[in-house]
Amino acid sequence: MPHVNQLNDQFPIPGLRFETNPQGMVRATIQTPAAEAELYLQGAHVTRWKPAGHREVLWLSRSSWFESGKPIRGGIPICFPWFGPHPVDPQQPAHGTARISNWNIAQAEETAEHGVKLWLTAQIETFQMTYTVEFGHELKLGLQIRNSQTSTYELPIEEALHTYFSVSDIRQVSIEGLQQAAYIDKMDNGLLKAPAHTAIRFDRETDRIYVNTEAACTLHDPNLQREIVVGKRGSLSTVVWNPWIAKAARMPDFGDDEWQGMVCIESANVATNALTLAPGESHGLQVDISVNAMTNASV
Ligand code: BG6
Repeated sequence: MPHVNQLNDQFPIPGLRFETNPQGMVRATIQTPAAEAELYLQGAHVTRWKPAGHREVLWLSRSSWFESGKPIRGGIPICFPWFGPHPVDPQQPAHGTARISNWNIAQAEETAEHGVKLWLTAQIETFQMTYTVEFGHELKLGLQIRNSQTSTYELPIEEALHTYFSVSDIRQVSIEGLQQAAYIDKMDNGLLKAPAHTAIRFDRETDRIYVNTEAACTLHDPNLQREIVVGKRGSLSTVVWNPWIAKAARMPDFGDDEWQGMVCIESANVATNALTLAPGESHGLQVDISVNAMTNASV
């Protein structure tokens, strides 16, 4: 892990600073006219993004671990090369190793819109990973995966940008965009359910994988008078998750009452949309997130 002084010397970009948190983990902090943000090198994990003129967009648990080798609860973990439990080995970490691996900063640049763009790289199993994160008025995430020429990796590959959004009250928000998509209902033995044809609202634990959908999602939050738009390319699944009361209480790194203030909308290729990458083959996933003030008409 490089020393923060080295990183600050190497990337002297206005508004970008590297520092260590109290637990000794290295993170980038961004403070520019366009946005304030934070990214940990462990997992290339975005933990904060606040575009100018708006509140915090991402949710981060006050009970999260910030320890080397443990996933951070909130922000945007990268799930890869599997999603959920490992398909054959229960000893392997949930959601893959990418979110607990060390990533390197390969490049940093000031954007034309006074934001900051970072390029991160990592080698995960046989895959060369490149992740670009552009912190500005929008948050633009690009995950590029290339399987090595000599790869003998045999499992299907799953990936998700597991984005935790901050909401006023989960019972008061709705998600539009997935009305026409069938979904695997993890709360009902993984049954494949027909499209609901209505916006998603929450009144219980919800854990769904919407499949075969490239649709953008809009998260409406009338109490905050804002909507968050999640656009994506190169992704056929969208996971929607809220643990509700009992599961929140079971998770040691999740405050008991925090389920009320978050929802995950994860742009992914998982389950029946898992990828197969032949040796030498690449795949790109792009997610663009923007925030709009809600008009009265849209409330
Ligand atoms: C979601 C899954 O994406 O992540 C849930 O659909 C899971 O089933 C949740 O509980 C959190 O996973 P983890 O490994 O970060 O506790």
